[in-house]
Order: sequence, then structure tokens, then C-alpha cells
Amino acid sequence: MPAPLPSPLPSPPREPPIAAAPRVRELPDPQATAALAAGIAAQLRPGDAVLLEGPLGAGKTTLARALLRAATGNPALEVPSPSYTLVQEYETAAGPVAHFDLWRLDGPAALAELGWEAARQHIVLVEWPDRLGALRPDDALTITLSLNGPTARRAVLHGWEDRLA
Ligand SMILES: Nc1ncnc2c1ncn2[C@@H]1O[C@H](COP(=O)(O)OP(=O)(O)OP(=O)(O)O)[C@@H](O)[C@H]1O
Ligand SMILES: [Mg+2]
Repeated sequence: MPAPLPSPLPSPPREPPIAAAPRVRELPDPQATAALAAGIAAQLRPGDAVLLEGPLGAGKTTLARALLRAATGNPALEVPSPSYTLVQEYETAAGPVAHFDLWRLDGPAALAELGWEAARQHIVLVEWPDRLGALRPDDALTITLSLNGPTARRAVLHGWEDRLA
């Protein structure tokens, strides 16, 4: 009689997925920031959220402006900081993009009045995304900018691991 087959070893517990490493980009001057923005613009599609974090003067609007100029194909496009209007809309090759600056947002409830839900059907580009609270999209590309010298900035990217190297 053949020996009974050994019972299969219990399978080892599944390793938790390795957290994707943040990607760091050194941006020595505004041209480098614009190049990063153009690379992101080329990837945009409806439903995307790009969140721009960092202190005052870090370069969030500068990056957003370069991204919108690349996405519209118009290097002279006027892109005012939406710090007073809180949102500005643009028509781009990837569809409408709503550029938010939520620094002055009066609580997440005020987001509805700005048309957040409708904007999420298209593309949102958000300065001060910490103001989103529970409405923060979890599949966003988050870019955290820090000052690293007079014209030097550092960008740390989270998200879009499959789309941005
Ligand atoms: N490498 C760089 N990348 C981006 N901006 C730079 C860089 N070097 C210098 N700057 C300058 O830093 C300033 C950044 O201002 P910007 O309005 O973009 O900041 P912000 O993060 O949007 O600030 P706020 O929170 O006040 O809206 C601009 O004057 C820009 O020209
Ligand atoms: Mg700004």
C-alpha cells in the first residue's frame, strides 16, 4: 500500500503588501517644477485627483499653472491663484480641470457649494487638500512640496505608482 501522501504544509501567512516607496524629485529651479508638471499633465484622465501639499510659497500654484499650461497646450494660459475664488475651471485635452485652493475653505460642507461632486467627475487639482477631510480622494496623486533653497524645491510623490515612475 502506498504511503499516504504527506498532508500539505499550512501555507505561510500572506505578506502584507509592501507599501509603495515615496518618490522624491529634486526641483532645482521653476523649469524643473514645470517639467514635473508636464509629465503629470500627460497622464491626466477623467476622475483623477492631483493634490498639492506644502507650506506657503512652496510652489503649489506654480506647479498647477505649469500643469494647466501643458494640459491645455497653451504656454501663455492665464492661471491666477484661486485663493479668493477658491476654484477656477479650465478646458484641457483630458477634459475639464477644476483648480481648487482650499486655504480659505470654511469647513468641508462649503465644498459642496464649490461644486466638488461635479468636479470629481472630471479632474481636480487641489492646493491645501488637508481641508478636504473625509472627502479626500484615496486614489489621488499627492505631491508634497518643500522649500530647499531660494529656487530649490523638493517634491515627494505618493500614488499613481503604476502611472508615474
Ligand atoms: N523650483 C521652484 N518651483 C516652484 N516655484 C519656485 C521654484 N523656485 C522658485 N519658485 C518661486 O516660489 C514661489 C512659489 O509660489 P506659489 O504661489 O507657487 O506657492 P504656493 O505653494 O502656491 O503658495 P500658497 O500656499 O501661498 O498658495 C513663486 O514665486 C515661484 O516663482
Ligand atoms: Mg498657491
